[in-house]
Amino acid sequence: MSSEKKQLKGFGSTAIHAGHQTEGNNAHLTPIYASSTYVFDTAEQGMRRFSGEEAGYIYSRWGNPSMKEVEDKISALESFGLTENGKPLQLKSRLHASGMAAISTLMLGNLKSGDKILSHYSLYGGTQELMNRVLPGLEIEAVIVDLRDTHKAEEVLKNDPKIKMLYLETPANPTIQCVDIEVLTLIAKKHNLIVAVDNTFATPYLQQPFKYSVDFVVHSTTKFLNGHGTAIGGALVGKDIGLMNTRMEKVHRLLGGNGNSFDAFLLTQGMKTLEIRMERHCANGMKVAEFLDQHPAISKVNYLGLPSHPDYETAKKQMRHPGPMLSFEMKGGLEAGKKFIDKLQMCVRAVSLGSCDTLLSHPASMTHYGVPKADREKYGITDGLIRMSVGIEDIEDILSDLEQAASPGPSKGGE
Ligand SMILES: Cc1ncc(COP(=O)(O)O)c(C=O)c1O
Repeated sequence: MSSEKKQLKGFGSTAIHAGHQTEGNNAHLTPIYASSTYVFDTAEQGMRRFSGEEAGYIYSRWGNPSMKEVEDKISALESFGLTENGKPLQLKSRLHASGMAAISTLMLGNLKSGDKILSHYSLYGGTQELMNRVLPGLEIEAVIVDLRDTHKAEEVLKNDPKIKMLYLETPANPTIQCVDIEVLTLIAKKHNLIVAVDNTFATPYLQQPFKYSVDFVVHSTTKFLNGHGTAIGGALVGKDIGLMNTRMEKVHRLLGGNGNSFDAFLLTQGMKTLEIRMERHCANGMKVAEFLDQHPAISKVNYLGLPSHPDYETAKKQMRHPGPMLSFEMKGGLEAGKKFIDKLQMCVRAVSLGSCDTLLSHPASMTHYGVPKADREKYGITDGLIRMSVGIEDIEDILSDLEQAASPGPSKGGE
């Protein structure tokens, strides 16, 4: 069944069926197309394909059926239930080799020398480094302010006509800060900015930035979309189909950050269970946050479902649930944090997020190692901060592992 043939009513059914096209041999699942190139019947046909007169595959860097299925699935979920001018919203997605490749296509496809990006504190470390270390070499500069104060955005934009893009990551990695997509997009549009949102932490199940008329969404599909930690990947999703099919497609093809068939296959299968996984991730996330919040060894918990979180209301407004991501600080700072992580027996010591297993990492020494200490502390990433991606294991097992790891005393021999 193809999503074009039938508009499905449920998000879960759309996640399972959208994007699938019946292929020649009637395979149930779209096979992994392990072919770099595609055959033309005649030279004429090759010319028609290249000119765009005839649809069809040419070369896998440009796309193939395995990648198209997942691209269309992501578009269907990001636009699920949304309309524009009374018709279902149409989106176009391009699969990338990684989230960073998708972000690079977004930036390099839309910005030129002399342009600036307005963004906020506490972005994923790689995105921050791209803005600090790579884009300035192309004379593209980032202006970083606390966009939770929307007046600041207004003020900065009034005084700086070189800002061409608003780039949001919400909830943000790893402090779980949230910014108001609707209000910031309205402000940005008054100044003709391009608006892009990294929707990795929320996924379209929890939050749909296109509801607020943003121009682009990016994903590290490596995380909750894939859901099983089996492949690195990224997606760039755009609302201007013409732009996606011309300029953005060109940049995607020429920078060479394309995805591949095997990873696309894994992503397609992973995405089919997005809804039920997210429900369980979020239910567990709330219970873990409540447990940590009352624990005597823990000084602070950043979780959007706790009314103590400064962005509680913003999250409630734009997210279905507060999500599976949280971070917290041990009372004993860095040393206590390291000891806690070392004592874990079931929960996994690893960076990344969004897999079925609960993952814990230490941003200061891992994901944000490349960000200067003064900068990261300004963004709330202290030495003792621990980030947690709450998995879908049974909650009793997660809580008992956290309890034994937080208790005083020597390690019980965590793996
Ligand atoms: C919010 C966010 N955006 C983008 C990325 C980059 O994604 P990738 O590692 O797939 O390149 C990450 C990676 O952790 C992330 O957490």
